Amino acid sequence: MNKIEALQRINELRAQLHTHNHNYYVLSQPTINDFEFDMMMNDLIALENKFPEYADENSPSQRVGSDINLEFKQVTHEYPMLSLGNTYSEEDVRDFETRISKLTEEKIEYVCELKYDGTSISLKYKNGKLAQALTRGDGVQGDDVTANVKTIKAIPLSLQGEGYPGEFEIRGEIMMPFEVFNQLNVEREEQDESPFANPRNAASGSLKMQNSSVVAKRQLDCYLYYLLGKQLPGKNHYENLELAKSWGFKISDDSKLCQSIDEVLDYIKYWDKQREELPVPIDGIVIKVNSLDQQDELGYTAKSPRWAISYKFKAERVATRLNSVTYQVGRTGSITPVANLDAVQLAGTVVKRASLHNADIIENLDLHLNDSVFVEKGGEIIPKIVGVDVEQRDSNAEKIEFIENCPECGTELIRIEGEANHYCPNSLLCPPQITGRIEHFIGRKAMDIDGLGEETIELLYQQSLVKNISDLYKLKKEDLLPLDRMGEKSADRILGSIKESLDVPFEKVLFALGIRHVGQTVAKKLAKSLGSIQALKAASLEELVEVDEIGDKIAKSIILFFEDEAQNEIVNELIAHGLQFELNQEELDKQTNKLEGLSIVISGSFKSHSRDELKALIEQHGGKNTSSISKKTDLFLAGEKVGPSKLAKVEKFEIKTISEEEFIARLQ
Ligand code: IVH
Repeated sequence: MNKIEALQRINELRAQLHTHNHNYYVLSQPTINDFEFDMMMNDLIALENKFPEYADENSPSQRVGSDINLEFKQVTHEYPMLSLGNTYSEEDVRDFETRISKLTEEKIEYVCELKYDGTSISLKYKNGKLAQALTRGDGVQGDDVTANVKTIKAIPLSLQGEGYPGEFEIRGEIMMPFEVFNQLNVEREEQDESPFANPRNAASGSLKMQNSSVVAKRQLDCYLYYLLGKQLPGKNHYENLELAKSWGFKISDDSKLCQSIDEVLDYIKYWDKQREELPVPIDGIVIKVNSLDQQDELGYTAKSPRWAISYKFKAERVATRLNSVTYQVGRTGSITPVANLDAVQLAGTVVKRASLHNADIIENLDLHLNDSVFVEKGGEIIPKIVGVDVEQRDSNAEKIEFIENCPECGTELIRIEGEANHYCPNSLLCPPQITGRIEHFIGRKAMDIDGLGEETIELLYQQSLVKNISDLYKLKKEDLLPLDRMGEKSADRILGSIKESLDVPFEKVLFALGIRHVGQTVAKKLAKSLGSIQALKAASLEELVEVDEIGDKIAKSIILFFEDEAQNEIVNELIAHGLQFELNQEELDKQTNKLEGLSIVISGSFKSHSRDELKALIEQHGGKNTSSISKKTDLFLAGEKVGPSKLAKVEKFEIKTISEEEFIARLQ
C-alpha cells in the first residue's frame, strides 16, 4: 500500500470507527458486533504504526489512554463555570417563576433536565475536534484533564454532521453508572483498597487519576447539557442541544420543553419516583429558561445564572436508635466499626446496620449510646449515619469511645500515621485475621481452591488442622472426613484442587499471600518486574518504588511483611510444598485484557474445547466466568444443546450470544 492509499484507508477507518463508537456509546444502538469493531481498530492501529506521519491525537485508536503520568495543568476558563441556586420545594420553584417574570415581559418557556450527580466538565472543540477538557476547579480555573477525557467513549473526539461553530464549548457531567460503580467497589474491597462512598466520588476520583490507561478501564459516561460560544447556531437552549445531538454528543432524551411552571412541577414529581430506574445517579432537576435572548436579559449574579435553578430531591432520611457499636476485624487486621440500629425502612430496604468506617467518623458525629441518629443512603446505596438528634440524648448517656484493644484477641490496636484505620498487629494469632487470610488465599482470583467454604475453614481452624495457609498443603483425607457434612467426594475434590493449585502462576501466589495493599494488579507488576519471591524479598524500598504503580505505602508494607519472621517461615514452607514462586514469562505473555471487565456465562457442549479450557481462556484474557445468567452478564458463550430456560433468560436480558468459533476468533 502506498502512502496515499494508506492515508485514504486511515481516514476511512477513523470515520467508520467514530460512527460505530457513537452508535454504541451514545445511541446504544450498535450496528456491528464487538469482533468486527476490534478488527477495524486493529487494522487502523497497524496502519498508524506503519505510517507514523499520519498520527492524530484524536484518532479513535487513542482512546486507550497512556501510562504517562500527568501533572494537571491549571487553565483559566474562557467562561467561568458557575453553580446553580438550589430550591427544595414547590414554593421555591414558584418563587423562581415570580422572580424572573418581573424581569421579562414575554412568555417564558422552560427546559427541564435531569441534574446528573457526577463531576462537571467543560469541553472545547475547535474545527470539529476535541481540543481541551477542563474540570470545574474553583470555577475560574480548572485542571486540564484532556488525556483522561479522551478515554471516555461517549465523548466525541471528532464531530459528525454539520453546522457546528468553528469554536465552542460544551459542558456536561461525567458519571460512573451504578453497575460499574458496584463492580469497582467489589474489586477494591477484594484488593484491600477502601471503596468509594458513591458514584460521584468514584467519577471525580477516576477523572483525576494520573494514568489515563487506568481511567480508560473505569467505563465512565458523559451527558452534555450546556452549549457556550460566540456564534451558537440556535436561538434557544433546547434547539442548540438538539443540534449538538446531531454532531455526536450524548444529550439526554429525558429533557423536556415546558410551557408553564405547573408542567415543570409535574416533571419534578415524575422524576422524584422514576429516578430509581435510571442507570446513572441524579440528585435533582435543573430548570432553565429556553430563550437565549431572555437568558441574556436575566443575566447572572456573582455565583449563578438568574435564568436557571436546580431543584434538589430530598435524600430519604430516617431517625432510628443506636443500640451499640461493634467492631469487625478484617484479614489484614483493619478494624471497622459498625453501628447496630433499631431496624428501620429506608428507600426500599430494611436497615439494621451502618458502617462507621473509622474512629474519626465516630468522633465527628460525637456518638453516644442510645442516640437517636439520622440515617441516609449515601449515594442511594450504603446506609450512613449523617447526624444525631442531640435534644433526645439523655444527660448521662455514655459517649462511644473507639476500642483500644482488638475485640477478637485483646491485642492493643495501632494506628499507622496518615491512615484512617486502626489495626490489630497480632496478625499471626488473631483468629479472624487467620481465617480471613485463608479465605483470601483460596479465593478464585488467588489460588482458586474449590470446595472449601467459610464454614469448613472455620472448622479446620478450630480443630487446629489448618492454622495458616501453608497447613492446607499438609491436609490428608483422614483429616477431612470426620468434618460435618464432608463426604468422600467432597474431600477428594478439595484435595485435588489443593494439588492443582501447585500450578497457579507466581503473580497469583503473590496476590494470595495477602500482603497488605498488594492487590491483583500490584502483584502482577511486582511479579513481572522482579521475577521471583527471592528478588522481592531482597528488594530495598528504593528498588520497590522504582516499579510501575508501586508507591511508598505499598513498598513499606512489602518490607514489613518480609521483616516478620513468622511470615517468612510460612513462605518457606510454601516454597517447600512446591508452589510457584518464580515467574513463568511464557504464561504471562499469553495474558491480555481482551475480555477485561466482561462477565461471561458458558453453556452447552462444545466442539473443540472443554468447558474448563474455555474458562481458562476467559480468565487468561481478563474476563470473568460466571455460572448464572443475570442482567449483569455481558456475553453468553453458547455451545450445542443449550437448555430452554437459559435461552429464555438470554433473550429476556438481551444478552449477546457468541459461538465457540466467534469467541476463539475474538481472542486471536
Ligand atoms: S447547567 C450555569 N444542567 O450541577 C449553570 N448543570 O449546581 C451551568 N449539573 O456544576 C450548569 N446536571 O455540574 C446544568 N442538566 C444540568 C446539570 C447540571 C448536573 C451540575 C453541574 C453544575 C452543578 C450546578
